[in-house]
Amino acid sequence: MTGSTVTDVDSMGTWKRTHDCGSLRAGDAGKKEVILMGWVNSRRDLGNLIFVDLRDRWGITQVVFDPNMDRQCHERAHVLRNEWVIAVRGKVSMRADGQENPGLPTGQIELKATELRILNRTHTPPFQVDGTVDASETLRLKYRYLELRRPDVFSLFLKRHQITSRIRTYLNDKGFLEVETPVLTKSTPEGARDYLVPSRINRGMFYALPQSPQLFKQLLMIGGFDRYYQIVKCFRDEDLRADRQPEFTQVDVEMSFVDEDAVMRIFEGMMQAVFSSVIGYDIPVPIPRISYHDAMERFGTDRPDMRFAMEFNDISDIAKRSSFNIFKGVVDSGGKVKAICVDGGAQVFSRKKLDALSELAAANGAKGISWIKITDKGWQSPLNRFFKEEDRAEIDIRLGVKQGDLIIMVADEPDVVNTVLGVIRLDVAGQMDLIRKTDYAFVWVTDFPMFEFNNTEQRLEAMHHPFTSPVDDDLPLLLSKPEAVRARAYDLVINGTEIGGGSIRIHNASIQEKILDILGISREKARQKFGFLLEALRYGAPPHGGMAIGLDRLVAMILGVDSIREVIAFPKTTSAACLLTEAPSFVEEEQLKELGLKVIG
Ligand code: AMO
Repeated sequence: MTGSTVTDVDSMGTWKRTHDCGSLRAGDAGKKEVILMGWVNSRRDLGNLIFVDLRDRWGITQVVFDPNMDRQCHERAHVLRNEWVIAVRGKVSMRADGQENPGLPTGQIELKATELRILNRTHTPPFQVDGTVDASETLRLKYRYLELRRPDVFSLFLKRHQITSRIRTYLNDKGFLEVETPVLTKSTPEGARDYLVPSRINRGMFYALPQSPQLFKQLLMIGGFDRYYQIVKCFRDEDLRADRQPEFTQVDVEMSFVDEDAVMRIFEGMMQAVFSSVIGYDIPVPIPRISYHDAMERFGTDRPDMRFAMEFNDISDIAKRSSFNIFKGVVDSGGKVKAICVDGGAQVFSRKKLDALSELAAANGAKGISWIKITDKGWQSPLNRFFKEEDRAEIDIRLGVKQGDLIIMVADEPDVVNTVLGVIRLDVAGQMDLIRKTDYAFVWVTDFPMFEFNNTEQRLEAMHHPFTSPVDDDLPLLLSKPEAVRARAYDLVINGTEIGGGSIRIHNASIQEKILDILGISREKARQKFGFLLEALRYGAPPHGGMAIGLDRLVAMILGVDSIREVIAFPKTTSAACLLTEAPSFVEEEQLKELGLKVIG
């Protein structure tokens, strides 16, 4: 045995890997001095022969310990256990007839071991690395590095790397410059709470971790860089869910002398490049566009899932003519009655399922739903008697129904109708199996309102961020009717998920100040918070605009996983904790003292 040390493991000594565990093929048979290193994925000890599947990130190779090759080496191999780290020297041989494994790229050969070095042993892992035994998420996150060894988990990161690399080459080829911006900085108003970092040198003062590099990328345009990008960590202290993490990655882009079309073209090309190179999926361009208004009216959301139609139909005018008092009352008081037609839904939706939909509607703020089943005898519905025959016919025509379909209606205030029918549309599509994971439906949502009303604080807020330019034609409405002003903002939506968003920015200092006025941000506060930007806008700022893609969301979408946690190497839980490092954690009293901080409560 070579290379033993004072510990119970061997050192690598002068051994160097000749191959990785995924590369040997039939053509290598006969090679005598091959050295592989990796983890024992599995082991079969047949007494006279010991088989070890040796694993690294490139694959698995079968190693055979045969006393006829080397007695001492075979003897040592008895002690091997799963996940030990070993190095093996040996000869590549063809497997015996009938012993090939067509499921492995290396399945035609095996390595006949002549020498073994045990590089490390292991505690019994808390869950099996090989195989499908599923541990709880808590355990998987605590021992994330063990889970990362699983080939299916690793493959997500390989794909993530390919996606990121393709994005980099695409942007590099288009003349974009990758520039890093500060992490210890000032608050950027993206609408979430900031993560703050206390300054030791400047007692009582704090840095904020960037919610995005928004202001820096605008400064880079003022600095003449013209085309910037950065694949960058952003930090937001917000309520977490499957597609939100406290720190996440953006593909952040900014361009000078551009309009919306130019920015959209760059991102359409980027999506084409990524989807075709990584999963061979062709995206037709231009990607369709829908205005915010139409998205809300037709699908009840600003991120419509366009993999299926099931659009809303406004039937308020017909509903008003009915003798159904609820419908009449709603329409008379300014509300709406809208309907969707569920193709072939009459059979699928039993009374019980319709009741469940009603509950879903109620949970989202409506009073319930009304429904009509289209049978061979016409309408089957509690509403039947309230509608005249010609009105029933008109509804049928407007919704394009046929026998076997189901109509679902919601009557309420216009916003409630849109929201609730939007939720129902998605739920019904799920139940009707209309949502296919391998389809990708892209859409740009445009013409967002510039402002939205914050009911709690009773003031206007920027819907995108306060540096977004209003539509030129709407400038005269800024003071008189701000809620009608449209923003030059756009979101990229894939399969009902907001993947990215951006805008053409304000490059004129006085318009910027006016917007901040409307948002109720005083001059003094504006100066404190982003005075540097307001000043920079006075030094020859070019027209500019850009966008950021949520990289984690994009990767999860392409790879068809449900949570962005799956595609982040060391993600946090929904309570923003890292189970592996146990962050966040308490710090030494001394550290707090140095920072001039005291924890209360
Ligand atoms: P926005 O705030 O829309 O725009 O963010 C851009 C994209 O980032 C992703 N995203 C997130 N992903 C995971 N976890 C989160 N907590 C999270 N928050 C956002 C989304 C989103 O579409 N500065 C602007 C961009 C610009 O105007 O150029 C910005 O940050 O996919």
